[in-house]
Amino acid sequence: MSAQIIDGSKLASQIHEQISKQVQERIAQGLSRPGLAVVLVGEDPASKVYVRNKHRACEKTGIYSRQIELSEKTTQKELLKIVDDLNSDPEIHGILVQFPLPKHLDPKEIIERIHPKKDVDGFHPYNVGRLVQGMPTLRPCTPYGVIKMLESTGVDLTGKDAIMVGASTVVGRPMLLELLLKNCTVTICHKATQNLSEKIRRSEVVVVAIGNPEFIKGEWIKEGAIVIDVGINRLPDGRLVGDIEFDVAKERASFITPVPGGVGPMTIAMLLVNTLEAAKMLDE
Ligand code: GUN
Repeated sequence: MSAQIIDGSKLASQIHEQISKQVQERIAQGLSRPGLAVVLVGEDPASKVYVRNKHRACEKTGIYSRQIELSEKTTQKELLKIVDDLNSDPEIHGILVQFPLPKHLDPKEIIERIHPKKDVDGFHPYNVGRLVQGMPTLRPCTPYGVIKMLESTGVDLTGKDAIMVGASTVVGRPMLLELLLKNCTVTICHKATQNLSEKIRRSEVVVVAIGNPEFIKGEWIKEGAIVIDVGINRLPDGRLVGDIEFDVAKERASFITPVPGGVGPMTIAMLLVNTLEAAKMLDE
């Protein structure tokens, strides 16, 4: 069996259309244009690409976008002041501080400083806590996008054995909670996990976010599993590949995401969804 491809670019552009429509409706009703501020500290090349893509997506959908680019030498105090100013800025409904930050900065303190209602990354302990309690508000964008991709398959996830490979705060941990909300039985794996391949062989839903090119072998995938690859890695020859050996995995899976054109565009689409949601919450 060859898997059906879950087309993240197509799903994301459908979401962009819905957002554009809702933004126009808000403005026609005299409500504010949703605004997103993205803060980039330093010169990380991958982060620069992500920030540019976020800006373009905002422009396409009518969301106001403000890019704040700061020097590598920015201090914690200066960054906190910028967050404080954005928290009280009425043009801004969503604040995203791009990670990774330079090593001398403490990301936890920055995350906690963002107003929970403007926390479009969904990383503030308030928003994480709501997700833990099963009443999410602003949800981390990548796991939220993965859920939309899983929903697009039409498969009922209730009772499925799901595995999350990678336990980062950005993807793995919130993904575990999202899969639990879908009534999956969830296993989460990390660097100290033993017998990873055996655990994957038993899983009906496989989500991988480890940042290690083709580390997950296609032959480990259970026949008929749904496979989501969050990884995006550039090989020395310039090719982009995921964390899963796609060509072999796709012959065993029922549904699989490609890299590129899979989870990446959905993460940005969900950032726009969250910005619109934040604008609605701040209206109240
Ligand atoms: N860097 C990589 N992914 C993300 C993300 O989802 N949010 C932020 N703020 N930084 C990131």
